[in-house]
Amino acid sequence: MRTQIAIIGSGPSGLLLGQLLTEAGIDNVILDRADRDYILGRVRAGVLEEGTVALMDKAKASGRLHAEGLPHDGFSLAFDGRDHRIDLLGLTGGKRVMVYGQTELTRDLMDRREAGGALTIYGATDVQPHGFDTEKPYITYEKDGTAHRLDCDFIAGCDGFHGVSRKAVPEGAITGYERVYPFGWLGILSDVAPVSHELIYANHPRGFALCSMRSETRSRYYIQCALYEKVESWTDDRFWDELRRRLPVHHAEALQTAPSFEKSIAPLRSFVAEPMRFGRLFLVGDAAHIVPPTGAKGLNLAASDVNYLFSGLLEHYTDRSNAGIDAYSQRALARVWKAVRFSWWMTTMMHRFPDSGPFDQKIQEAELDYLTHSEAASKALAENYVGLPY
Ligand code: FAD
Ligand code: DHB
Repeated sequence: MRTQIAIIGSGPSGLLLGQLLTEAGIDNVILDRADRDYILGRVRAGVLEEGTVALMDKAKASGRLHAEGLPHDGFSLAFDGRDHRIDLLGLTGGKRVMVYGQTELTRDLMDRREAGGALTIYGATDVQPHGFDTEKPYITYEKDGTAHRLDCDFIAGCDGFHGVSRKAVPEGAITGYERVYPFGWLGILSDVAPVSHELIYANHPRGFALCSMRSETRSRYYIQCALYEKVESWTDDRFWDELRRRLPVHHAEALQTAPSFEKSIAPLRSFVAEPMRFGRLFLVGDAAHIVPPTGAKGLNLAASDVNYLFSGLLEHYTDRSNAGIDAYSQRALARVWKAVRFSWWMTTMMHRFPDSGPFDQKIQEAELDYLTHSEAASKALAENYVGLPY
């Protein structure tokens, strides 16, 4: 089999890239080791930047997003028993974010892809990219016990942090930069009205908490937890009690509870691989970088990588120019590092670090005080939260 672009991974980055290429008339095949339902069962990100929404528009997959997504003009930073609203709209001169779950975005892209007839091979095992340092790259994989080969012009490695694409690069050609945080997030989904119509990011002596949502009747809540914690030891009641303790009293009293139907722990990590291009192989999204979720940047960074790669590939096929492809890694990384910095900063400001002392505590308090009293500092937060320009 032959295609123009072979895409490894059917997460948000692979699907978005695939859909933009299909809309532009560029043939592509997506391979994923998982099946559709498994991918749709992974609850992850929930906040979309305007740039991500614009790419969904361009991919002609944004109908439901605009109908059901919740535009948010601000969010709350809660600390010291009170709320401080960050007025995203006012501080950024009119920008907002859209609350819409990653699972829904993924479903919309999958549906659109299926309707357009583009090929996705789910349940592909032993996927391996080959020959990307030559003019003739190809992928080998197995499906139902039979070996297959997919020849292509380019390979997009959209296979997440644990995928094969980054691992296929010779060790000496790639550099990794990493920070692992000494805590995780325990998250739940529950069909209950959100405690507030805007998101609340809470800094509390017992640890960070985040009140988010998926709709007006579905809440997504997170609490910072130790890395040794096990999901099984967190009953719903224990979770609700702990969340209440970390919120200002008026929110804690307003919190409605219901049984959770999803509960999981995610470790927090910052990671960047440089460069993001190796001959005819491109790393995209989590395959190239991971950020802690505090700034809601993971999915949005995957989308901005796709933007740069898609425009480079389009230029290659329509203008016969490789300028965009050649600039991909440098353009993507410039934006990636700014989001890595922002996510690290927000994580540092909002969490309790097990090994931090009274000095670190005072610095954190000063940071929050400065942020909430300085328009310049608030603007810097808002500008990064809504997403830096592409
Ligand atoms: P992925 O979504 O990881 O997709 C990669 C795809 O590649 C998967 O479908 C996988 O099955 C496939 N694949 C992997 N290996 C192979 C292989 N060997 N062969 C074939 N296919 C393969 N971001 C936020 O902004 N907010 C959050 O709250 C948030 N929570 C998160 C919680 C968790 C547990 C994780 C892991 C991530 C979270 N993120 C969050 C980050 C966000 O979900 C990711 O940035 C986003 O999913 C990146 O999309 P992607 O398409 O690059 O990678
Ligand atoms: C969600 C996750 C985040 O990491 C974040 O910063 C905001 C919202 C969410 O899952 O809704």
